[in-house]
Amino acid sequence: YSEEDLYRPNFHFTPKKGWMNDPNGMFYKDGFYHLYFQHYPNGNTWGPMHWGHAISTDMVTWKEMPIAIYPDEKGYIFSGSAVVDINNSSGFSKDGIVPIIAMFTYHDMDAEKAGKTNYQSQAIAYSLDEGQTFIKYSENPVIKNPGIRDFRDPKMVWDSIHEKWLMVLAAGQKIMFYSSQNLKDWKQESDFGTGIGGHGGVWECPDFFPLKVQGTNEVKWVLLVSINPGGPNGGSATQYFVGDFDGKQFKIDPSFKNDLNKKENKSIWIDYGRDNYAGVTWANIPDADGRKLFMGWMSNWEYANAVPTETWRSAMTVARTVELQKVNSSYKLLFKPVKELTNYRGTKLEMESVTINGSTKIIDSKSINLSSAEIYFQIPDLKNSSFTFKLTNIQGDTLAFGYDNSNKNFFLDRSKSGKTEFSEKFANRLSMVKRTSLNPDLFGTIILDKTSIELFFDNGETVMTEIFFPNSPFEKLSIESKDQEFTLGSIEIHKLNIN
Ligand code: FRU
Repeated sequence: YSEEDLYRPNFHFTPKKGWMNDPNGMFYKDGFYHLYFQHYPNGNTWGPMHWGHAISTDMVTWKEMPIAIYPDEKGYIFSGSAVVDINNSSGFSKDGIVPIIAMFTYHDMDAEKAGKTNYQSQAIAYSLDEGQTFIKYSENPVIKNPGIRDFRDPKMVWDSIHEKWLMVLAAGQKIMFYSSQNLKDWKQESDFGTGIGGHGGVWECPDFFPLKVQGTNEVKWVLLVSINPGGPNGGSATQYFVGDFDGKQFKIDPSFKNDLNKKENKSIWIDYGRDNYAGVTWANIPDADGRKLFMGWMSNWEYANAVPTETWRSAMTVARTVELQKVNSSYKLLFKPVKELTNYRGTKLEMESVTINGSTKIIDSKSINLSSAEIYFQIPDLKNSSFTFKLTNIQGDTLAFGYDNSNKNFFLDRSKSGKTEFSEKFANRLSMVKRTSLNPDLFGTIILDKTSIELFFDNGETVMTEIFFPNSPFEKLSIESKDQEFTLGSIEIHKLNIN
């Protein structure tokens, strides 16, 4: 197998060549979803950061575009966001063209090497050609460094409730809140994070947005905060907070705070797998669509620079919707793959009421390409069941995942999934998470590509995303259970014809 054949994902975004990390500056405009990303085009490990660019009409197939923002004498171009300035509040419009405003962090390498601590500042740039190229603002930086070493990753959002632009910024192990009328002059309003949430590492790549609670008219504000290290199963991960915002200050909801206090690491995570980091949401999604749309970087700083691909490094997750639900009097985010994926369905395989008392059942062998598939399954009465799904290939590589009733954990085990030795951190433990749903039945969705699995349990209440590098494609899916009475209620496997 060539590296392309074996490891280039069928439908997860990767750059053609070079290094990639965080998704940046995502916005929607006139039929196109834009994705920018932390990119080093001249090497396959992290280096001088550019903003790479890709566009899509459905968030499933992507077209890579020329690099949108290059580093310059002020520094590398670190993570940030972009907004569509419909009313020209910035004044950057020309000839009636709607400007797109990007805000990013300048990382001044020379200042860092010289031992200074004030080397990160915030800058803006605008595009008058649909996000293809950006003109850097002459008065940059728009927010100077106040003497904080980690001071980065501005995420802007239009606050239609308080009618102003907001921006959240990671500063050490806190989030700073800013507001603006013109996207150039920013006022610090407040900060959040002291004594609350996970503090196992530096806070990075925040996102902040209002979201309607499903089935009600109640609106809550959601704060996403990526942290590295300190994740639930090691390394980088993204935690979230639910609360209220008065235009100046974010206040965590008491019931959510109560939930946080019950967790051993004081965090609630958007994903309990090891490979969903620095994810943020799209700006400017039309009201008629109404969805909150998210994408994350499908890797982990513990081994991202060492994964066994040479031409490119890293992929993004599939685009996901973010929903807010009231569960047991508190709030919970649900993440689900976007419905656009189903437009690519090909061959389908279905099975119902598969009983496998204490043994193994092969679900599929070869008839569906398991390197490009979407799987739905249902297990009735989970409280009495343990089960393990296994993906295997002729080399004997195995990726295992399932539910263990003895400790009520979902688990994902890539320790025998193929190439793992490139980093001692990659497969040193199983990823596990306690089930939170009280539903007697379990519904699950599995998204499979050549080198990734995305597990959405309980309608997206618990998510696990991980990457793997088998020695040949996985071609067999089986399920096993040691229980005396185990029934897989149903399973539906769709081949996805994308690439
Ligand atoms: C997160 C991060 C950001 C930073 C970027 C640099 O993965 O560390 O905080 O802006 O990567 O590439």
